[in-house]
Amino acid sequence: MKIGILGVGNLAAYLVQGAQKEGHTFLLSPRSASKVIELSERFDCTVAKNNQALIDAVDHILVCLPASEGVAILRELTFRKDQMVCSAMAAGATLDEIRAAVFPAEATLSMMPGYANAFSVGPTFLFPSNPIWARFFSACGPVHEMPDAKSFETVAVFGAMSGASVFLMRHLAAWYETEGLSPVIARRLVAETIRGNAEVLLQSDEPLDAICSGVTTRGGITEQLLSDLNSDGALESWHRAMTHVLHRMAPARKT
Ligand SMILES: NC(=O)c1ccc[n+]([C@@H]2O[C@H](COP(=O)([O-])OP(=O)(O)OC[C@H]3O[C@@H](n4cnc5c(N)ncnc54)[C@H](OP(=O)(O)O)[C@@H]3O)[C@@H](O)[C@H]2O)c1
Repeated sequence: MKIGILGVGNLAAYLVQGAQKEGHTFLLSPRSASKVIELSERFDCTVAKNNQALIDAVDHILVCLPASEGVAILRELTFRKDQMVCSAMAAGATLDEIRAAVFPAEATLSMMPGYANAFSVGPTFLFPSNPIWARFFSACGPVHEMPDAKSFETVAVFGAMSGASVFLMRHLAAWYETEGLSPVIARRLVAETIRGNAEVLLQSDEPLDAICSGVTTRGGITEQLLSDLNSDGALESWHRAMTHVLHRMAPARKT
């Protein structure tokens, strides 16, 4: 497929890298000189003269624009009926707004972690279902098509959860470094532990509560760490912060 990317920043670079093996041709919007040059050199992408020239030349369009300006930028452009537009803008644009802006093209929304997609291990959630974009994102990790707008709003919070989990891992690695471990060991220890536990969730048939019991020895150090974290409200604060993100992305869910 010939894919046009509007907004060539970090996310676009991750997705181009992840989707490389599928042999798509990428046409990039002309802003962000340094990213565009980097992608053109690494992956043989070409650069459009302007955003409308990009739309006119491609089969389908991936929108990685800043959420605050994205819809206004799309409204200025003319799309074709046979095109599928996928918006990866995390916050600030509803499906109805994107649909109206790209009509008569079809629109779908997506959410993904970003960097993990470059290594083809990041999940992508789509709403509504779209076979063209489901196939595209399957090169960047597992794809999940959501059945309705409300469940997509809920899953979309994982964009923030994913980013914040990287900060959590950095925080944990820094603790080990402070205690004298080398940065290389500290980073591997954190990453391999969390990857290992993620595999448990993916591979075990046990319910989450049973897995938690299994990794907690009565009177042991996990119980002690959790007790300290809970008395500081550390785990509960994730709950509150994620609800805050949900309310920003879907203000109607505030009630
Ligand atoms: N980063 C992630 O991992 C991630 C993950 C999921 C979703 N997202 C979403 O993806 C979108 C992009 O995020 P990002 O992190 O890649 O941001 P970013 O690095 O700032 O990239 C956005 C790019 O859009 C370009 N742009 C702005 N106005 C434009 C226009 N009129 N025409 C063409 N290009 C224009 C900007 O160019 P200039 O530099 O020239 O201004 C910038 O390079 C956001 O909506 C974000 O919420 C990001």
